[in-house]
Amino acid sequence: MTENRETLRASLLKELDPAKIPAHIGIIMDGNGRWAKSRGKSRIRGHQEGARRVKTVVRFANDLGVKHISLYAFSVENWARPSFEVSALMRLIRAYIIRERNDLHAEGVKFRLLGRLEELAPEIVRQAQISTELMQNNPGLSLNLCINYGGRAEIVDAVKKIINKGYKADQITEELIAANLYWPELPDVDLMVRTSGEMRTSNFHLWRGAYSELYFTPVLWPDFDDVELLKALLAYQNRERRFGMISEQLAKN
Ligand code: FPP
Repeated sequence: MTENRETLRASLLKELDPAKIPAHIGIIMDGNGRWAKSRGKSRIRGHQEGARRVKTVVRFANDLGVKHISLYAFSVENWARPSFEVSALMRLIRAYIIRERNDLHAEGVKFRLLGRLEELAPEIVRQAQISTELMQNNPGLSLNLCINYGGRAEIVDAVKKIINKGYKADQITEELIAANLYWPELPDVDLMVRTSGEMRTSNFHLWRGAYSELYFTPVLWPDFDDVELLKALLAYQNRERRFGMISEQLAKN
C-alpha cells in the first residue's frame, strides 16, 4: 500500500461512525469486461481479477461489523452471454467457493447461495451446501452469493411457494411474501453499491432493496477495494433515511 493510500484509508476510517454501519450491503460488481479491455486482456481475465476483489471487500466488511453482504455474481439474464464466458464464470464461482472455504470459515463468516439453484450445475450447489453447513454457526458476516439470481424471479418463486402452501388471496401480506423469499432471515438491503458508472439496479434485490440507499461509483469492480468501500459507507452515513416520514419525525426517534 502506498503511503498516500494508507493516509487516505486511515482518515476515511476515522470519519466512519461505527454506530451507523449498514447491516446489509448489496453489491452489483460491474465493469470486469471494461477493466480487461482497457488493458488489452480477455474478459475472462477481468472476471478473474473481479473474483480476487471479493476477498478484500468481504474481509474488510466483516472487520467493520457489516452483518450481510450480497454479491451479484451471476444474474438470470447472464445466461445470454457467449457460452464460453458463462462457462468461465461458473468455473470461477465454483473455484471461489472451494478455495475460499477455509479462510472464510476461519474469519467467522457465514455462507449462503441465493438464486434459482435448481438450474445451476449440481456440483456448484453441492459445494455451496458444504460451505453453508460448515459455517452456519459462525458469528460474523453472512456472505450471500447471488447466482442465477433475479429480483423478479425471487418474487415469482415466493408467490409459487405461497400458493403451494394453500394460502388464499386475502391472506397475502408483505410479511408473508418476505417470509417466502430466498433465505427469509436476511434483512432489507440498506446500501446498494454499483460499480463502473452504470446507474441501474438491474433486477437485484427488488424486494429487499425497496428502501436501499443507492451508491454509484465510476470505479470498475476489479479496482474496488477497502478505500472504495469506505467511501461508499461514508456516503451512506451522510444520507438521511426517512422511510416515507419527514426529518422532524426521525429526530424524535
Ligand atoms: C459484470 O461485469 C460482472 C459480472 C456479470 C460477473 C461478476 C463476477 C465476478 C466479479 C467474478 C466471479 C465472482 C465470484 C464471487 C467468484 P461485466 O462483465 O458486465 O463488465 P462490463 O460491463 O465492463 O463488460
